[in-house]
Amino acid sequence: MDALEAIRTRRSIRRYTGDPIPRADLETIVDAGRLAASGYNAQPWEFVVVTDRALIEKIALHDWIAQAGAMIAVVLATESYFWREDGSAAVQNMLVAATALGYGSCWLQGRTERHIPAIKKHLNIPADKHLMTLIPLGVPAEAPEKEKKSLAEVLHWETYQDKTG
Ligand SMILES: Cc1cc2nc3c(=O)[nH]c(=O)nc-3n(C[C@H](O)[C@H](O)[C@H](O)COP(=O)(O)O)c2cc1C
Repeated sequence: MDALEAIRTRRSIRRYTGDPIPRADLETIVDAGRLAASGYNAQPWEFVVVTDRALIEKIALHDWIAQAGAMIAVVLATESYFWREDGSAAVQNMLVAATALGYGSCWLQGRTERHIPAIKKHLNIPADKHLMTLIPLGVPAEAPEKEKKSLAEVLHWETYQDKTG
């Protein structure tokens, strides 16, 4: 699958078959994150890949995550100026790479804050590092559709046009 097809077909997947993911594929996915653009080329990220089923279940914030083949914890050094943007670029690269390899994934960040200290403890993440996002990965067991804004709604040529009228 080429990059554009992966970008077009990626959807957040929240049901997995429970099948494991080969280590080589997980490395390819993290490598895509590592190669993302970053402000000042700071690359303020590290990635913890969890494949141990018991550990996945410990850090699963929702029941459906327990069926993931792996979880990637995205860890940022927040002293880096653009850490949020850099982390987001790395996450998106990994979601697209996962799609290209045939895996489902989901950016998991909403309402996770209160669970972060416990998850950091389970994963041995140092106190001065920020656990930004958890990405469950798995063989998809669903193919959801998602309403997207049309290109015409969001694209402006040359100058901004009011499209609400
Ligand atoms: C910053 C961010 C946080 C998100 N947090 C969650 C989350 O906590 N739980 C979840 O199920 N999906 C989460 N998502 C996934 C979105 O719900 C999803 O991307 C959106 O509904 C669009 O669907 P799509 O990814 O299939 O295109 C998050 C996405 C982003 C970009």
